[in-house]
Amino acid sequence: MKKQATLLTVEASKPDPAILSRAALTLREGGLVAFPTETVYGLGADATNDRAVAAIYEAKGRPRFNPLIVHVDSVSALQGLVVMNEVAHKLATAFMPGALTLVLPRQKESGISWLCSAGTETLAVRIPSHAVALAFLRAAEKPVAAPSANRSGSISPTTPLHVMESLGERIDLILGAGRCPIGVESTVVDLSGNTPTLLRPGGITREQLEAVAGPLALAKAVNEDNPSAPGQMESHYAPNALVRLHATLAGPDEAFLLFGPELGLVGGVKRLNLSPTGDLHEAAANLFAMLRELDTPAIRSIAVASIPMHGLGMAINDRLRRAAAPREKVAA
Ligand code: TXA
Ligand code: MG
Repeated sequence: MKKQATLLTVEASKPDPAILSRAALTLREGGLVAFPTETVYGLGADATNDRAVAAIYEAKGRPRFNPLIVHVDSVSALQGLVVMNEVAHKLATAFMPGALTLVLPRQKESGISWLCSAGTETLAVRIPSHAVALAFLRAAEKPVAAPSANRSGSISPTTPLHVMESLGERIDLILGAGRCPIGVESTVVDLSGNTPTLLRPGGITREQLEAVAGPLALAKAVNEDNPSAPGQMESHYAPNALVRLHATLAGPDEAFLLFGPELGLVGGVKRLNLSPTGDLHEAAANLFAMLRELDTPAIRSIAVASIPMHGLGMAINDRLRRAAAPREKVAA
């Protein structure tokens, strides 16, 4: 076990170059560096270094069959890693940098550790839009493999404190820059086959993507019975308390996570509202922090009010459904 990670905080709009260089050096030397993105905090390692990438799986307790997203700072860098097709070009032009991850065939000479592909012939690539993430990637001068910076199966981090709580003793450095503005992970679209397929709803909505790329197929929600479909494990994002969806009442040993007007939604020993005005952007930004806040030992379960399925609601409902999935299906 390592000693506690160093937390270095930068201003999101004007990150200190000396701190960025130190974080970049730690990464280049094979260390693990958590960094902010517009979606959630990532746990970064040099994607060309097998040992560093292996250390990500180790620190997270992540199953080796679950591949990693590789982060770069430009579309030209991306083209060195994956073979782009027409739809990929369209989506990259419209949404990169941003909360979109594309799964594409690997370039032969990408130099990326095969551990990132976890037994597939593909790579997931993304260009984050967060100013600190981009500055860190530029300083690192390396493609950065980064899953969300949490222990596998638990709730993704949207603040440096969340990262410290779950991985503080397992990583080298946390580059902190406050809360992540979007609050749910990137949308993952698989463009490696014949049919563009939405693997994970996220920060760029299905409606936005389909306006540019046409209709997307939806991945079947699969579980660990089908490990060939990476990352689609049912139980995930799980707090310690149970999670109960579409609730209109909460009991005396339950917390209540609300959305919109609270009229008629009664009970709960502790109540938090994702967005009193019913704004899905605000709800996404609050989701993981509020689930953590309600997840205390006195709470048997977290009752969650219904949330609409359009826009960011699709990603929010996906995370909540996984948080509520039966625990015997928890994937490491
Ligand atoms: O917003 C995000 O995407 C954040 C930030 C840090 O970039 N990252 C993130 O990574 O959420 P992670 O590892 O927690 O989730 C990545 C998802 C997983 O479901 C994984 O299975 C899937 O993307 N994935 C990664 N590489 C893939 C590949 N080659 N084929 C299919 N799915 C892949
Ligand atoms: Mg994750």
